[in-house]
Amino acid sequence: MINEERLWNSLMTMAEIGATAGGGVGRLALTDLDRQARDLFRQWCEQAGCSIRIDRLGNIFARRAGTDPDAAPVMTGSHLDSQPLGGKFDGAYGVLAGLEVIRALNDEDIKTHAPIDVAVWTDEEGVRFGGGCLASAAFAGLIESETALGTTDADGLSMGDELVRIEYAGDEPVGGIPVAAFFEAHIEQGPVLEAEGIAIGAVLGAQGQRNFEVTVTGDEGHAGTLPMNRRRDAYLGAARMADALNAVAFRFDPVPVVTIGHVRVTPNSRNTIPGTVVFSIDSRHPDDGVLSQVKDAMRAECERVAGESNVEMSFKQISHSPPVVFDGGCVDAVRQAADRLDLASRDIHSGAGHDACNLARCTPTGMIFVPCRDGISHNEKESATPEDLAAGAAVLLEIILERAGRV
Ligand code: GLV
Ligand code: MN
Ligand code: MN
Repeated sequence: MINEERLWNSLMTMAEIGATAGGGVGRLALTDLDRQARDLFRQWCEQAGCSIRIDRLGNIFARRAGTDPDAAPVMTGSHLDSQPLGGKFDGAYGVLAGLEVIRALNDEDIKTHAPIDVAVWTDEEGVRFGGGCLASAAFAGLIESETALGTTDADGLSMGDELVRIEYAGDEPVGGIPVAAFFEAHIEQGPVLEAEGIAIGAVLGAQGQRNFEVTVTGDEGHAGTLPMNRRRDAYLGAARMADALNAVAFRFDPVPVVTIGHVRVTPNSRNTIPGTVVFSIDSRHPDDGVLSQVKDAMRAECERVAGESNVEMSFKQISHSPPVVFDGGCVDAVRQAADRLDLASRDIHSGAGHDACNLARCTPTGMIFVPCRDGISHNEKESATPEDLAAGAAVLLEIILERAGRV
């Protein structure tokens, strides 16, 4: 029923929007490229007979009606934004697998009792506007919509203003509606399934995550004239902090992952000593208690290094997602659907964050992982086979039919 070639062609067509020279995709949230991707998704969904709703945070819901208009929808979906140098599959796969499920049901004129919604969540990656997954967090009632709308990018543009600019500030309220269940299909973004030759990962849950913003302040000065011993170099302070933060991770067992991925140097000029550096810290661990100890240790190290480097420092938590355990019935649904389709499956944990982690806090939620080449993701080289992608979509179709009730 799933049409492997149609799913693959849709993924490749979507990947043309924001295609990078290195064969990947760069499609940051709420840019013109994101608007084009959203428009294409809407057009495809309308052609497939879906109605479209857009909420105030730009979350899109494409609905295939059920025979019972009052039944809560079974929801699937993921995101269309990407990393600056991202791949073709992270996010887009979960969205287009949902669309392929609808197209497959249309092919055979199969009706369901409950409606099926394919969701596109705004700014999953959090590259521009903060911690990531804020729009699904608001949908799940975990944060206020105004908090997400008010977050700004490095140029001071707010999510709210950018939604208006690309004409995706919808009028539907955010969340507060019953959802029967949510299932997200995604590439694994790790090496396990491929190494073991297993088609389907039944995702048990995801590790916790805390994001921080550290601001280091020194003094600008002339690179040629200010003697080395009179400098307050914010970059030097930040660089020493980077090394200290990396060392903090190794004090814990199992070792958390700690990443400094975004750095802004001001004034970022060859011959001026940097006066300000702002950098991000992404920290993750399966145990929230450990994550909290990691936070305290990181803050203490940044304070120590700032003192020794004669700079000032402020340390701010941007977001906090505790570890998530997915609904046992949903995990079982993935295992059993794989069994019925004669696909090998195994239980697996997610190292990455997903909108499903937020949905899990307001509705029964599960995730389907499929293998990706060499476990590589957040990289232009990210790759997956048409066959594996279709197998994941087939599991999704099976589950959705079961949950939405074939008429
Ligand atoms: C998103 O890809 C994340 O795990 O942060
Ligand atoms: Mn993703
Ligand atoms: Mn990602």
